[in-house]
Amino acid sequence: MTNSGKVRLCRKGLADAANDYAWKTDGELASLDATTPLTTTFPEYLSGYSSELGNPKPPQNEFAIKTRDGKHIGNCAYYGIKKTRREAEVGIIIGNCNYWDRGYGTDAVKALVIHIFRSTNLKRIHLKTLRDNKRAQRCFSKCGFTACGHQVKKGHKFVLMELTRSRYQERTGPVVSRQSYQADRQQ
Ligand SMILES: CC(C)(COP(=O)(O)OP(=O)(O)OC[C@H]1O[C@@H](n2cnc3c(N)ncnc32)[C@H](O)[C@@H]1OP(=O)(O)O)[C@@H](O)C(=O)NCCC(=O)NCCS
Repeated sequence: MTNSGKVRLCRKGLADAANDYAWKTDGELASLDATTPLTTTFPEYLSGYSSELGNPKPPQNEFAIKTRDGKHIGNCAYYGIKKTRREAEVGIIIGNCNYWDRGYGTDAVKALVIHIFRSTNLKRIHLKTLRDNKRAQRCFSKCGFTACGHQVKKGHKFVLMELTRSRYQERTGPVVSRQSYQADRQQ
């Protein structure tokens, strides 16, 4: 769907369920994201997963992160879209820790950002990450996000980060919308 460097972002499929379940039940991944690990059984999880895939809430904004040779290593998404403010929140997880610190997260965030600014009219995307998660903050900084505040929630200290369309364009040049991009490629 969208390629960037070492990764491509793909539509989610049933084949991704086992990895997603393993990552959602992992204690270390949960604590890096200030959540608690999932405790439902895999059959229960799979049943909810298949019905969500069958009846996706439009638009589908969640993607599997795959390596160039097709290995599913994580997920990313944008959500909480505020249409009037033209903003949304973004999230990412590289669930397979063998791929941490090797640039995959940065390439995935870059791909997600390109996808968002090309195919939507959003003006600002933002995220929050634990203050101590320096790896995540470095990854987002490399993609152009800047710190824009702090938040304390349920005892966890978060850094808020944002990337505006105008800052993105200052860094990379004008955004070619998905329609004009496809039209150019067909000529
Ligand atoms: C956060 C995450 C998406 C980043 O993806 P990644 O592929 O590991 O990140 P990248 O390799 O692209 O970039 C990480 C950068 O952080 C740096 N880094 C790693 N640990 C660091 C630390 N303790 N302090 C400062 N920088 C650190 C790396 O050196 C690298 O920077 P560099 O390229 O300038 O050397 C991924 O590690 C992940 O999903 N982790 C587990 C879950 C998690 O943290 N969830 C919260 C997400 S908000």
